[in-house]
Amino acid sequence: MSPVVIDDLSHGLAHRVPEDVPLVQARIQNHRALSQAIDDYSITGVIHLAALKAAGESVDMPLEYYAENVGGMVDLLSVMKEKDVRNFVYSSSAAVYGTPAANPVAEDAALIPENPYGQTKVVGEWLARDAGVAWNLSWVGTDDAHGWVRLDVGAGEDGTCSFVSKESQDLGIVWNRESAPAVLSMVDVEDMLLAEGRFPEFVGSKGLFDANGDHNDGLRRGVLVAVPDDGLTGLISELVDGEAGATTYDYVRTWEAQGWESTLSVAVDATSGRVLATSLIERPA
Ligand SMILES: NC(=O)c1ccc[n+]([C@@H]2O[C@H](COP(=O)([O-])OP(=O)(O)OC[C@H]3O[C@@H](n4cnc5c(N)ncnc54)[C@H](O)[C@@H]3O)[C@@H](O)[C@H]2O)c1
Repeated sequence: MSPVVIDDLSHGLAHRVPEDVPLVQARIQNHRALSQAIDDYSITGVIHLAALKAAGESVDMPLEYYAENVGGMVDLLSVMKEKDVRNFVYSSSAAVYGTPAANPVAEDAALIPENPYGQTKVVGEWLARDAGVAWNLSWVGTDDAHGWVRLDVGAGEDGTCSFVSKESQDLGIVWNRESAPAVLSMVDVEDMLLAEGRFPEFVGSKGLFDANGDHNDGLRRGVLVAVPDDGLTGLISELVDGEAGATTYDYVRTWEAQGWESTLSVAVDATSGRVLATSLIERPA
C-alpha cells in the first residue's frame, strides 16, 4: 500500500511531498477529480487533513471555515461513499474541547469549542461518526450467516419481512432469518419514529414520511441482520449490548429539488426502536 497526496496547495507546498509520492492538485470539493484519483490510484482509505485551521481567523471568516471544513468534508465523504471507500481517519483538534477543566484532557471530555474553527471540527467528528455507522451497516460477508438485502414491506406487515431483492453489491449474500434476534415489527418502529413529533426532520417533503405518516415517494426500506462472526463483532458491539447479534431497519430516500439531490438515511435498532444514525447528504444534482 502506498500513499497519494491530494492537496489544492492553498497552504501546502508541492516540494514537501516526497518525489516517489504522487501529488494530485485538487480541492476536496472537486468531485470529479477525487473520483478520478480514487480510480487511478485504487484508493482504499483516506486520512483527512485538509482544512482551514487558524482559530482566530475563523472568528472573522466563519462562513469560509464552515464551507471548507464542513462542506468540504461532506463532499469528500460523498465521493468516498459513491466509490465505496470505507476506511477513514479524521484529523480533529484539541480546539473541540475549548478550555478544558483538567489536564491532560481525556478523550471523552466535554466538547465545548470556543470558536468557529473548533465548532467545525466538532461537526467533522459527528460527520465521521454518523457516516461510519451508516456505512458499516451495509457491510456484507461471504457466507449466508449475515448480509444486507432490500425489502419492500407494505404497511400492516410485521418484522418478518419477505425477501425482495439484494443490493447490487451484495450478490451472493442471503439473509438468514434464523440468525436474527427478536425484533419489533417495522410498523411499530415507524410508529415510534412518528410518535409525538419526536423526529420532525423525518416528516415532510425532506423526510421519510409525509404529513399523514405515509411513506414519501422513493423511500427504500431495508433490514440488516448481523450475527457474531469474523469482522462483524466490532460492528455489533457498536450497535447493541450483548453478543446475540443485531438487526437494524434502514431507511434511505433520495430526491431532487431545486437543482439539489438529497439523500436521507436513517438506521434504527430493530430490537428497541432506538435511532442509531441519521445522515442527510445534499449536493448539486
Ligand atoms: N497544526 C496543528 O497544531 C493541528 C492540531 C490539531 C489538528 N490539526 C488538524 O490537522 C489538519 C492538518 O493541519 P496542518 O497543521 O497540517 O495544516 P496545513 O494547513 O499545514 O495542512 C492542511 C493542508 O490542506 C490543504 N487544503 C486546505 N483546504 C483544502 C481543500 N479544500 N482541498 C484540498 N486541500 C486543502 C492545504 O493546502 C494544506 O496543505 C487540519 O485538519 C487541522 O485542523 C492541526
